[in-house]
Amino acid sequence: MTSNIRIAPSILSADFAKLGEEVRAIDEAGCDWIHVDVMDGHFVPNITIGPGVVKDLRPHSEKPFDVHLMISPVDQYLEAFAEAGADYISFHPEAGPHPHRTVQSITALGKKAGLVLNPATPLDILDYLIDDLDLILVMSVNPGFGGQSFIDSQLRKIENIRQRIDQTGKDIRLEVDGGIDQTTAPKAIAAGADTLVAGTATFTGGPGQYAANISGLRGE
Ligand code: DX5
Ligand code: ZN
Repeated sequence: MTSNIRIAPSILSADFAKLGEEVRAIDEAGCDWIHVDVMDGHFVPNITIGPGVVKDLRPHSEKPFDVHLMISPVDQYLEAFAEAGADYISFHPEAGPHPHRTVQSITALGKKAGLVLNPATPLDILDYLIDDLDLILVMSVNPGFGGQSFIDSQLRKIENIRQRIDQTGKDIRLEVDGGIDQTTAPKAIAAGADTLVAGTATFTGGPGQYAANISGLRGE
């Protein structure tokens, strides 16, 4: 049942003074994807990293880089993140005037396109976009910071999106980001999520704990 679940540690909770080492450690600890939170201090009230850091991290793991862009405008940075080695590039529809064009641009760069829905963002944005997406990312906290509490109303949203994805018959991943721990992970999975971002829950306790933390999120 949980074998299809992907765990994507958010390096936002890693030690930024040794990011390469941290990426190698979560890779060896059995994560599936590497989740990279990019924040601009404008779209969200925090600043993190840019494409240069993604490029330098790239040699430290062969696992997919799941790049979550919390930046506005977004379109002019897509190419830089693609060239830096992103595999999935996700953006918020509020980050620009033409979300469909942004999806087209990501796909044209040969990358997987993800759309991110904030807690208050309604689902109708999916009506004419879902068929072109590779990933839908449900924010279960407001974007900007790690360590926040899971917002339960997002479980209904996950259930609804699961139905919509199944209706398409396409291979679209359903990812949840924010407040995922051993209590909320099973709820998100039960609602239909197949990919879990986990910052705090992965990195708590230091490198010696990463493997156990990741297994715990899988329910092992
Ligand atoms: C929040 C980020 C998340 C965050 C998750 O804006 O998108 O990826 O780092 O952190 P935790 O798992 O600690 O809630
Ligand atoms: Zn994220």
